Amino acid sequence: MIKLKTAEEIEKMKRGGEILSRTLSLIAKACVPGANTEDLDKIARDEFEKAGGKASFLNYQIHSFDPPYPSAVCISINDEVVHGPATPNRVIKDGDVVKLDIGLWYEDMATDMACTVLVGNVPEVARELSTETKKALQMALETIHEGSWLHDIGKTIQDYLEPKGFGVVRDLVGHGVGHGVHEEPQIPHYHDRRMRAIKLKAGMCLAIEPMVTAGDWQVTQKDDGWTIVTLDKSLAAHWEVTIAVTHDGYELITPWPTT
Ligand code: MF3
Ligand code: CO
Repeated sequence: MIKLKTAEEIEKMKRGGEILSRTLSLIAKACVPGANTEDLDKIARDEFEKAGGKASFLNYQIHSFDPPYPSAVCISINDEVVHGPATPNRVIKDGDVVKLDIGLWYEDMATDMACTVLVGNVPEVARELSTETKKALQMALETIHEGSWLHDIGKTIQDYLEPKGFGVVRDLVGHGVGHGVHEEPQIPHYHDRRMRAIKLKAGMCLAIEPMVTAGDWQVTQKDDGWTIVTLDKSLAAHWEVTIAVTHDGYELITPWPTT
């Protein structure tokens, strides 16, 4: 069941989204060579505490058999796509492609967002990969309004990125968000005609989060039980926003971070 949110609930999510975006921007700026991921995580925990919110990823389990997630922020570097835990022994280096993914509970509502940070001297392909992934997400958002098709989101992303030689990850998807961290519907960032057609309705709150590689779309999980990496070890980018569907478009719940 896809839960629609009331105008009041969306206002709560927008207040949470402001805090989340501000926090993500702070972490992105602190993402410099020598920074360790535990210190980056602490920025989030401190900001959330000051604001009266709570990190939604900390101790989260996507499936009941998952170990509880160990940090507030997912920090995934280079060929890591998503869900890289923040730990003291991981240090950011010049040339790293860093994906920061962060989620917040605020006024009993969940919001979720992610960005890609290019640290110093990155390979040229990394810049293109991140820029085009963000652009594909922006293009997908333009398809959204009451009555539009959910699968036009993934179709737009895939049709824009695949001809450029990039891989659109299929094993992980976007999702509804608000009363929970992950709600229905699932939002693939690619298109498959066998998928059930879903029409968007005003009040749906969606986290759309293309994960894109500079190679093939296949991914695998590391032995830590969390980190998702590209199978061919190619670089990955990730951008995510939470939005609310409206009658004539969408409302951005998590403002774009300033990176
Ligand atoms: N933003 C991530 C997603 O929607 C959530 C990470 S869950 C965690 O996939 F448990 F890894 F934190
Ligand atoms: Co998400």
